Amino acid sequence: MTAWSQGYIAESPYTFSYQAGLAPTQLQAVCALMGVKWQIRPDLVMVDIGCGRGLTVNTLAAANPGWTVVGLDYNPSHIAEAASIAERCRIPNAVFVEADLSTMTDEEIDRLPPIDVATLHGVWTWVGDPVREGIMRLLSRRLKPGGLVYAGYNALPGFGSDAALQRLFRHAAALHQGGTNAKVEAATDLARRLLETTPAYLPRTPLLDAMVKDDDRLNPSYLAHELLTEHWRPVFFEDIAKAFGAAKLDFVGSVTLSENIPDTLFTPAQRAIYETTPPGAMRELLKDLCVPRPFRRDVFVRGMVRTDADAALDDIVLAATMEPGQEPPKVKVNVGEAEMGEAMWTPMAAALRQGPCRLGDLRGLAPGKPPNPGELIMMLTGAGHAQPVQRPSGPTEQTAALNRLLAKEYVAEGRGGSQLCMASPVAGSGIACTWLELAVAVQPESEGREMPDTVALARRILGPLNEEAAEEASGVIQRMLIERRPVWRRFGIIGD
Ligand SMILES: C[S@@+](CC[C@H](N)C(=O)[O-])C[C@H]1O[C@@H](n2cnc3c(N)ncnc32)[C@H](O)[C@@H]1O
Repeated sequence: MTAWSQGYIAESPYTFSYQAGLAPTQLQAVCALMGVKWQIRPDLVMVDIGCGRGLTVNTLAAANPGWTVVGLDYNPSHIAEAASIAERCRIPNAVFVEADLSTMTDEEIDRLPPIDVATLHGVWTWVGDPVREGIMRLLSRRLKPGGLVYAGYNALPGFGSDAALQRLFRHAAALHQGGTNAKVEAATDLARRLLETTPAYLPRTPLLDAMVKDDDRLNPSYLAHELLTEHWRPVFFEDIAKAFGAAKLDFVGSVTLSENIPDTLFTPAQRAIYETTPPGAMRELLKDLCVPRPFRRDVFVRGMVRTDADAALDDIVLAATMEPGQEPPKVKVNVGEAEMGEAMWTPMAAALRQGPCRLGDLRGLAPGKPPNPGELIMMLTGAGHAQPVQRPSGPTEQTAALNRLLAKEYVAEGRGGSQLCMASPVAGSGIACTWLELAVAVQPESEGREMPDTVALARRILGPLNEEAAEEASGVIQRMLIERRPVWRRFGIIGD
């Protein structure tokens, strides 16, 4: 532990991850679904509180040159890395500030511009009271009336099942003399061995299950930041909502659209209880009791103004992230699967392949009665067939530079479970991708319409390969170019 870290982990960097839920286009969709008036301004100001290594900030700033996107974190190595990426990719509207939220003075806070969107992903339930108080001071002083706050946090009761694991993990790590990764390894090993003895109170939660299975997504820096902090404490929704009241924030809804649609969450008997419960904290508690979601991603607004949800949803523009010939959307929800019929999907897929479409226009294409707009956007975005977008525009210097830099320097991180993305000027955000997709998309040959020499591409990306391995990799890249290139073009990631 470093002298200044106040119980949080600072000696090893956090994972390099893009968080799609923070994108204002997604927040706008949540507001529309919940009938809350909110629109993205062309000069939007966003502050990501506890921004980590800044991939989300750099991506959103590169994709929206008119915005100011500020990343704030107390770890100087996070800020130095993020600021260096912004500088090298010439993203002047990504601003990184090294600041400890617990000690930021009012004068320092007031130097920030008035904020339209504040985000905190993975911060609130890992830090002590002085840091939480600092967050609230910042929100109270700088969030504009009508501004939004996104909070992603460990929720009770779901994450409570990991309380024993977290305590055990911290003790086991403290006993080990090595660096953070070695501590995490020793603690993981102990947790696995203890679990084999079927102890009375160490439940095999999804997190412990992933440790047992050595899941690739659980890299050591994620586990260190998730479990080794002194202040790890999941909260009930009601408690965070109460704390946020200090900045006059009201709950809007979940960033996961399906979590706002009771039909997808409850069995009929649970639904009957839900329906007789007044809107508010108890309804959210019922969701947290019935739906397995240990991590909540909530949106709050400072000053709720109501609007017509259907009209607001109809105005949302979606672009297709799906590939040619993809099956109709099928979304896994808590009570099964929501599926779109072929007859409804076919005309919508054809329209989306031509370019971005308003949700209202897509609804008009359905045979018979137009579908409910909330359910339709949930289906189209929930299964990864489409994504809300900002504006039709081609590649920009900044997005292209960021994508090239990520491909050159960060592809290796994507192999260890970090969430990479490609910055898209059309989406005004990032689109999730694998490390190989990123590496292929930035090759100059991917721009054209011809199929390039994929054996040569495979060797350039993967290094020396024998004949057989080169053929195999070439096949994978060919399929990727056929399937993904239209999507990269649609999103302005590559030119025509
Ligand atoms: C779990 S990480 C999440 C990072 C980022 N939001 C993401 O999702 O990739 C929590 C972040 O909070 C930062 N943090 C912890 N305590 C802080 C404090 N007192 N002031 C500012 N940042 C802090 C850490 O340095 C770390 O980057």
